[in-house]
Formats: sequence, C-alpha cells, structure tokens
Amino acid sequence: MPQPVRIAPSILSADFARLGEEIRAVDEAGADWIHIDVMDGHFVPNLTIGPGVVKALRPHSAKPFDVHLMIAPVDPFLEAFAAAGADTITVHPEAGPHLHRTLQAIKALGKRAGVSLNPATPAKMLDYVLEEVDLVLVMTVNPGFGGQGFIASQLRKIEALRKQIDRSGRTIDLEVDGGIDAETARRAVEAGADALVAGTATFRGGPDAYAANIRELRGA
Ligand code: DX5
Ligand code: ZN
Repeated sequence: MPQPVRIAPSILSADFARLGEEIRAVDEAGADWIHIDVMDGHFVPNLTIGPGVVKALRPHSAKPFDVHLMIAPVDPFLEAFAAAGADTITVHPEAGPHLHRTLQAIKALGKRAGVSLNPATPAKMLDYVLEEVDLVLVMTVNPGFGGQGFIASQLRKIEALRKQIDRSGRTIDLEVDGGIDAETARRAVEAGADALVAGTATFRGGPDAYAANIRELRGA
C-alpha cells in the first residue's frame, strides 16, 4: 500500500547563492525530504554540486537528505556522499556495471538505497534487486535539468511498480521526479506514487510562496 505522500523539493531550482537559507525555508514550509540533484556533466548534460556542498548544507536541516546521483561511475563517490550526510542515496542502473553490488555498498554505509529509472529504462530492471531497495525513483523527464515537461508514458511504469512493490510486502518508497505540478502530482499519486520531487513547483514565487506551493502539491 502507498504511504502518505511525501514532498521532496529539489534544490536545483533554489537560489544557489543562498542554498542554506533556501533549505531552511523549504524545511519550515513543510518539506518532508530535501532532494539534492548531483550531476557530473557526463552521465547527464549538466553539472551541479558535489559532496562538499552536501556536507555544508547538512546543518541547515534535520529533514532527510534524498540524494539523487546522476554520475557515472557512481561507486567511487558513495562513501563521500554518505559521509557528507545523505540519508537516501539513489543511483541509476546505467551508472555502473553491477547494480546489486552498488546497492549493497550503499547499505553497508548505513544508508537507504534508491534506484532511479530513466524514461526509457524498464521497471523490470528491478526484478532481481528489489529486496535491496528502499526507494524507487521514476524519472518523468530525462535527467539533467529542472523545468522540463512531464512524460506521461511513465504513469504506466508507476502503476506497474506500485503492484510490484505491494506484492513484495516490503515498505519501499515510490518517488516521481520531473515536471511535477499540482496536476501531474495528482496523476502520479493516482498511479501509485507516494513521494514527489518538485523543483520548479516548490520554488516558484520565492520564499513567501513555498508553504502554499508545498501544500498545493500535497493536496493534489
Ligand atoms: C532532473 C532532476 C530533478 C529536477 C526536477 O534531472 O532530477 O530533480 O530538479 O525539476 P522540476 O521539478 O522543475 O521538473
Ligand atoms: Zn532528482
């Protein structure tokens, strides 16, 4: 069964010159998790932040850090992000040759392990690793940038994963990332998602609007 919907603002849409303040503001505005997008300019066509920034942000919120690694190879960096204060570490299956080993490495570091599926990556990638997984992140855009349009074909994948997770009998978060606004949030939750990443939709309008923006997503 889905859990109550969690909202995870993606700081990719925050003011990078004031990241600490921005995280405090979305924390106070009701965010459940802080979603941190790490990009390497190689696995995805954009560059963002590394473990040093995650570590610097850690004292600014006690909410779980939901760290989405869009880097390849990913294995050499797991320890650094764990030490920096990540709570969940999410990787893409294409970011290394041995997904099962990568998930075991994350768990050995004492962190929750997530797997993110690109729009073209099938749900069946998870068939033989679901036991190692705490969170599944369905990309509803091609990773790399905020502000892109929601890819509706992914709703079928969310539905299939909902069934697979429920059959497993384990508590596994089913999170959606990309193009989430009030309308697409509703469709994603109807399909079975129980965690929503939102960059543009959280940070639009500036700090005074964050609480209302988060409330609107949760209400959807
Ligand atoms: C895209 C990132 C997303 C992105 C979402 O590669 O993984 O987390 O920031 O941004 P919006 O909500 O603007 O689509
Ligand atoms: Zn993300």
